[in-house]
Amino acid sequence: MSILDKHAILERNATLLLVGSLLVVTIGGIVEIAPLFYLENTIEKVEGMRPYSPLELAGRDIYVREGCYVCHSQMIRPFRDEVERYGHYSLAAESMYDHPFQWGSKRTGPDLARVGDRYSNEWHVQHLIEPRSVVPESVMPSYAFLKETPLEVKNITLHLEANRKVGVPYTDEMIENAAADIKAQADPNADTSGLEARYPKAKLGDFDGDPAKLTEMDALVAYLQMLGTLVDFSTYDDASGYR
Ligand code: HEC
Repeated sequence: MSILDKHAILERNATLLLVGSLLVVTIGGIVEIAPLFYLENTIEKVEGMRPYSPLELAGRDIYVREGCYVCHSQMIRPFRDEVERYGHYSLAAESMYDHPFQWGSKRTGPDLARVGDRYSNEWHVQHLIEPRSVVPESVMPSYAFLKETPLEVKNITLHLEANRKVGVPYTDEMIENAAADIKAQADPNADTSGLEARYPKAKLGDFDGDPAKLTEMDALVAYLQMLGTLVDFSTYDDASGYR
């Protein structure tokens, strides 16, 4: 009996075909899934990633609350046109502390994964207050109220603890200092040496243009200015991770 005849038996017997298909799918599934149980981490380690500072975390909450992800992705794909426009493609590690991640797929506006350091704080504040005053053709809504809304800080310690429960490596020291750190980061007169040691590369100072008040605008701009700036890509080798 030739191989074709044998296969014909399989094709003409529905039950046998079903059992055969199931067997093949099971083998395929095991080959894909089993290795994951033996890997310690599926995310490549990169230098520079750290948990969000309390102010950045609060800003991220506002980003999620306001649905910025409805129009903005935070995921640069490894394609030439994207890399030329936005910078190095996103690494999995860059969103490992995001709960939930903000990759998105809808780009009414540009990708924001590396928007940090691209504009001044003043530009962001002006743009969020009235997008069309800086980009005349913009369809982005105005978020002027953020500058008038005091930042809610009383739950920040619990918020860090909740993130730690889902795997973000906040230390006891970070949690103890969260209530002070959230204010210090946006206060030009504060002593920030502890904060800078806990959260390297954190942007400091007044963000919203009003040093006397801690507003939601401060938090959102601190978050935007950090996006994509933590990993130093001058030391990153695409082929093998770190040099
Ligand atoms: C209805 C869709 C929409 C929503 C919602 C939206 N944006 Fe935008 N955004 C845009 C568009 C369109 C642009 C491009 C024009 C411009 O710069 O205003 C843009 C541009 C931007 C830029 C400049 C990016 C760059 O590289 O030039 C930033 C930063 C930004 N948005 C942040 C936000 C934040 C933060 C929120 C939530 C508070 C938000 N956007 C909500 C549509 C949106």
